[in-house]
Amino acid sequence: MSAGEPFAAVDVIRSKRDGGRLSDEQIDWVVGAYTRGVVAEEQMSALAMAIFLRGMDSGEIARWTGAMIDSGERLSLHGSRPTVDKHSTGGVGDKITLPLAPLVAACGAAVPQLSGRGLGHTGGTLDKLESIPGWRAALSTEEIVRQLEEVGAVVCAATPTLAPADRKLYALRDVTATVESIPLIASSIMSKKIAEGSAGLVLDVKTGSGAFMKTREQAKELAEALVAIGKAHGVATTALITEMGTPLGRAVGNAVEVAESVEVLRGGGPADVVELTVALAREMLALAGLGSVDPAAVLASGEAYETWCRMIRAQDGDPEAPLPAPKHVHIVEAPADGVLSTLDAYAVGVAAWRLGAGRARKEDPVQAAAGILCHAKPGDRLSAGDPVLELHTDTPEALPAALHTLENSFTLQDSAPPATPVVLDVLR
Ligand code: URA
Repeated sequence: MSAGEPFAAVDVIRSKRDGGRLSDEQIDWVVGAYTRGVVAEEQMSALAMAIFLRGMDSGEIARWTGAMIDSGERLSLHGSRPTVDKHSTGGVGDKITLPLAPLVAACGAAVPQLSGRGLGHTGGTLDKLESIPGWRAALSTEEIVRQLEEVGAVVCAATPTLAPADRKLYALRDVTATVESIPLIASSIMSKKIAEGSAGLVLDVKTGSGAFMKTREQAKELAEALVAIGKAHGVATTALITEMGTPLGRAVGNAVEVAESVEVLRGGGPADVVELTVALAREMLALAGLGSVDPAAVLASGEAYETWCRMIRAQDGDPEAPLPAPKHVHIVEAPADGVLSTLDAYAVGVAAWRLGAGRARKEDPVQAAAGILCHAKPGDRLSAGDPVLELHTDTPEALPAALHTLENSFTLQDSAPPATPVVLDVLR
């Protein structure tokens, strides 16, 4: 035991390794001491693996989350509007934050969306918004508070002071095969969201090939853990379990997803994107005490689009500027007549990433114009030679790998598949 420390890391690790329950004091200490550098990386690796293998009960998870929140600053963003936020566990073509934040703001709430960048096959909200000329992701806390009061919606980079323990632990989990643990995922997500200071939170837990949680059972387990943490910390929390077996909407990438979001805000856009945006908005408004406002009517009125323009301008972006266009476009055609029965979200997400829309390492740049347009969605009838996917990139050398990923990414059959709902379950 280091001088002055109440515990020895090795005892905490041994206790979890042997299937024991960590005490509140052990959790507070180990998370804090890891953030201070007193618990070494190899010790936290061993503890993360012990938690991965042995799990934590709901009390341990809530306390672990609290310790991660206490490792940094807890913002207080309360102004004259009720605050409510949304978090998605990540999906392919999941641009919902873009239309949702201004929509909920136009309905009277304040939406502080402190977001991250994309890593792997699911895109990052900030990467998408950065395809808008001039738009700036980094805001000071004062700017966030002012924009929330004046516009009602802020989507910006999370400050490094929010849950620094999670930042450190997530990087460690990434290289020690300890990411896919429900207690660790749930506490990681909720520590950042609770530290952001929003009074209400709606979680969009995705399930299917393009999601973190491949099965409905896993998604439900994660959703239950997330809602329980919210309740334990006094944050009104609802979780929706939503479909991610096929890409959301038709656009997957950066600028293409911004363009599709603007279509939605202008009253058009793909039906699944509109449906999910309105469903999430309803839940957010209910938590904010604005359940009598109809988000579908506000979307149709054009007020959400006006709020979007103000939100983009407030961060130095030009909402009317043309979005970057790709240098190369390649079309994948239907090989035969038939009805598109499946279009695999994971394959499309990985292909868009390979085209340059995503990054392999945190420090890599992304291409604003890279991505994929899905010309057909499951249920659409196609003739041989019709376009199915439109690949966009500035680096044509990326095309063979993307095309390889897309082999077998869709299937055609004689008749239409049964329609799948977007929202599969709601947990309150
Ligand atoms: N997203 C997070 O923020 N944390 C995780 O552990 C997994 C996904």
